[in-house]
Amino acid sequence: MKRSFSGIQPTGDIHIGNYLGAIKTWAEMLDEYDCFFCIVDLHAMTVPYEPSAMAQRTLDAVAVNMACGLDPARCTIFVQSQVQEHAELCWILDTVTPMGSLARMTQFKQKSEQIGGDVKVGLFNYPVLMTADIALYKGEVIPVGDDQVQHLELAREIIRKFNNTFGPVFPECQPLLSKAPRGMGLDGVNKMSKSLGNHIGVTEPPESVRQKLATAVTDPARVKRTDPGEPTKCNLYHLHTYFSSPDEITWVEEGCRSAGIGCLDCKKVLAENMIAVLTPIRERYEQLQADPDVVRKVVAEGADRARSIAADVMAEVKAAAGLYSG
Ligand code: TRP
Repeated sequence: MKRSFSGIQPTGDIHIGNYLGAIKTWAEMLDEYDCFFCIVDLHAMTVPYEPSAMAQRTLDAVAVNMACGLDPARCTIFVQSQVQEHAELCWILDTVTPMGSLARMTQFKQKSEQIGGDVKVGLFNYPVLMTADIALYKGEVIPVGDDQVQHLELAREIIRKFNNTFGPVFPECQPLLSKAPRGMGLDGVNKMSKSLGNHIGVTEPPESVRQKLATAVTDPARVKRTDPGEPTKCNLYHLHTYFSSPDEITWVEEGCRSAGIGCLDCKKVLAENMIAVLTPIRERYEQLQADPDVVRKVVAEGADRARSIAADVMAEVKAAAGLYSG
């Protein structure tokens, strides 16, 4: 089995955009690849954060991802800072990484602009740590969202540079883009994002799902119930295509175009279908929260497996680089 590696930011606030765009795809890969999922707490340190909340954020991220279908019996879930080789390999890759390539990264440019003057080296170096994550497990297939494609291109460049300088230690890695593009938020204007408050969380209770959908923006052409609409212009239609049955989707398409159904009818069906998908996720999440030892055990076992591979690869890296081994 080819090895797949992905990094997950430590947050339990995961919305249906994250779920459809990423986690659902990951859960479907478990039998096809040797999957590693790493909660990237070292990456999360590149922006200001509350130290007293970080450990809990990390465990919440594990719990939500498990609840969404990352079955620890069929993959390795672990915390980045528990495997020291990530930082160690990052340093070695730093020695072959051109500054100019890092300076060109869109995410770095955007974030450093937002910050203003006091940009830290960690933010600059972020993509090298990502490369170390992947290389440490000889990851070949990297499921990411489209916002990470540029980082992946750079990872490929860094890995090539290492191999050319020290010998062929690492395989090439390939991005695996999710089929589901990240959907629009409930405002119908921006991509779904927690910081914009236009989202539905995967662990949100039914009442809240109904309420949020009831006030969500639909096709602007449908001012009155009798106005015909165009489903492809409605951000909720997009959600129907994930949560509803083929018959219901046809019903929405025809009803919307002929004004045979109102937006409210359409939203009600969507709400119930969404609730049916989210309810088992929320229930699993609540179970895991009630028994945090289960989550702790998963990441402890994950760290053991990750460490044993990381140690071997690191030894290979040091030997290739000609470092003294005693
Ligand atoms: N930077 C990625 C993100 O923000 C997370 C990440 C860290 C990652 N290391 C990785 C993704 C390695 C893929 C592979 O989404």
